[in-house]
Amino acid sequence: MIKLFNNNNNLIKFQQILKRNYSVNKKGINVEDSSVLQYVDKEFESYKIHKPVFIKEVLEILNPQPNKIYIDATFGMGGHTRGILETCKDCYVIAFDRDPKVFDMTKSLRTEFKDRLITINSTFSSMRSALKEKNLSHLKISGILYDFGVSSYQIDTADRGFSFKKELDGPLDMRMNQNSSQLSAFDIVNTFSEKDLRDIFFYYGEEKHTKNIANEIIRKRQIEPIKNTNDLVKIIESSIPYPMALKTISRVFRSLRMFVNDELNEIKVGLTEGEELLEPNSPLLAISFHSIEDRIVKQFLNKFTTIDEPTFKFSPNLKSPIFPSEEELEWNPRSKSAVLRTAIRTSNKPISSKFNI
Ligand SMILES: C[S@@+](CC[C@H](N)C(=O)[O-])C[C@H]1O[C@@H](n2cnc3c(N)ncnc32)[C@H](O)[C@@H]1O
Repeated sequence: MIKLFNNNNNLIKFQQILKRNYSVNKKGINVEDSSVLQYVDKEFESYKIHKPVFIKEVLEILNPQPNKIYIDATFGMGGHTRGILETCKDCYVIAFDRDPKVFDMTKSLRTEFKDRLITINSTFSSMRSALKEKNLSHLKISGILYDFGVSSYQIDTADRGFSFKKELDGPLDMRMNQNSSQLSAFDIVNTFSEKDLRDIFFYYGEEKHTKNIANEIIRKRQIEPIKNTNDLVKIIESSIPYPMALKTISRVFRSLRMFVNDELNEIKVGLTEGEELLEPNSPLLAISFHSIEDRIVKQFLNKFTTIDEPTFKFSPNLKSPIFPSEEELEWNPRSKSAVLRTAIRTSNKPISSKFNI
């Protein structure tokens, strides 16, 4: 049986673990002057590449409170984590990311908040086992945020192979964790059958012109391996009439990325982990960038708000999805396709892991 700590023990436990892993930072944090731009990690200010999507809405809904612990399931460049930690100077964050490189890229943030932030290199589908491994599984979680997909850093770094921009030519990799043994986009493009390639482009990319592209891939790889992102772009361009090529390229790249990282299953299982971890009355927030991702979140929330003993409820004014404001679109054009859905955990026992969502 799971033994739950009372609130006080919850925090003592958190602090003990922090002390074990880091020395305690005595510096106070100035919350007075926090503005949206401040959530850009200091190391990245020169790049101006990372802007956390829906930061105002996330902080309003999460409403971080002193002595409470929040999970950022997709740490990335730590923009949302920074927002949470700066909004309430006595709250704590446990942040997950499957990409170990993001932790190297956010050293300044992690040093600044080392007494209130624990980062864990793990997928969000394994949050509970990762917490258990770190003796953190008894902590009470007062809110959880998912910001799906890839970060600007990952997209804009050529050697990750996520981008189809010509100037970002790189190896066809696309693994969010390059240390993992999972198949890369190179393996898929160069070894999968025509049918499997077509299924990936159709199912994960909603692309219709799958036959021409798959045939051309197979023809080209018989001559030599398709190594780089630009090679794949050229193949797609030569298989599709010009005006359609750009959208198709984007869909094919996205479909490969989603398949390589098993992103849809990750979301399904990750949401059930959230259901298990959240305390009653705590919000779950999920930001999607594509209708395929958003559909899973929508189905999950619709199901678990309407079953007999619902494990989630919508707050009365937040049943509908939230879309980026004009202000956000101007500040951060990459938020264009973003959708935020949210619901509040009830006190009923978690059940979603028993369902096939
Ligand atoms: C859109 S970015 C998050 C940006 C972040 N909210 C911020 O403000 O900096 C998504 C991040 O989630 C990570 N990620 C994607 N899928 C994941 C998964 N299944 N488990 C853990 N991390 C994941 C990616 O590696 C990436 O760093």
